[in-house]
Amino acid sequence: MARKIKHLIAGNWKMNGLKKDIKELRSLITKLDKAKTKPVCDILICPPATLIRSFYEEAKSSNIKIGGQDCHLQDFGAHTGDISAHMIKDSGGRYCIIGHSERRSDHEETSHKVRKKAAKAQEAGLCAIICVGETARERKMGKTNQIIGGQLKGSLPESALAKNTIIAYEPVWAIGTGLTPTSEQVAASHAYLRTKLIALMGSEGEKVKILYGGSVKPSNAAELMTIENVNGALVGGASLKAQDFYGIIKAL
Ligand code: PGA
Repeated sequence: MARKIKHLIAGNWKMNGLKKDIKELRSLITKLDKAKTKPVCDILICPPATLIRSFYEEAKSSNIKIGGQDCHLQDFGAHTGDISAHMIKDSGGRYCIIGHSERRSDHEETSHKVRKKAAKAQEAGLCAIICVGETARERKMGKTNQIIGGQLKGSLPESALAKNTIIAYEPVWAIGTGLTPTSEQVAASHAYLRTKLIALMGSEGEKVKILYGGSVKPSNAAELMTIENVNGALVGGASLKAQDFYGIIKAL
């Protein structure tokens, strides 16, 4: 019998959002306040770094938590343009996405680097959302488990515990494309990651949330979220509009 883990619906705004877009957060808070039944999941929004503080101020009396999308692997210093995990924490963030496939490809982030960043995030008191996922080519070659297993092993810091670590399985080919794997494919990858987590972390690995990410929307959320070992979603495009994001939260 699988352990009951509370779902997390996390929004990743990527490089989207200006000051005016805080209205979407306000609208989400209103929808949650007005709802007859309280959401059964935890809710997180990771806006761009420029909006972390204002989102935190807006959401602090609600159930919505705020997080960052990346952090540097050092605490401070001569790293122009970067932000540290401590800065995210200081701005009100409680989580940080690490090693998203767009960071792995746009910024050539290796699992080794991801692991160091995740350790820094945890050290700063953030929960690290570590992303793994195969490309379409890797899946076609039958290498999905090898790729995601390797990324998980290489990216998981020694400090990883269920309370400071979340894994997001995001097939690269499903991100922003409208394509989603079949339920069987999602179930197989999540079961594999669960086995790997237990092998790496012992019984602690049974409690780590494994999110699914890649073209999650209100219309497919209910099916995806009931798959065994799927403990929530990492949502890109559909998290930008309160209406869509709320639709996903409500689907649970
Ligand atoms: P998407 O992005 O929901 O727009 O596919 C997911 C992600 O990259 O986290």
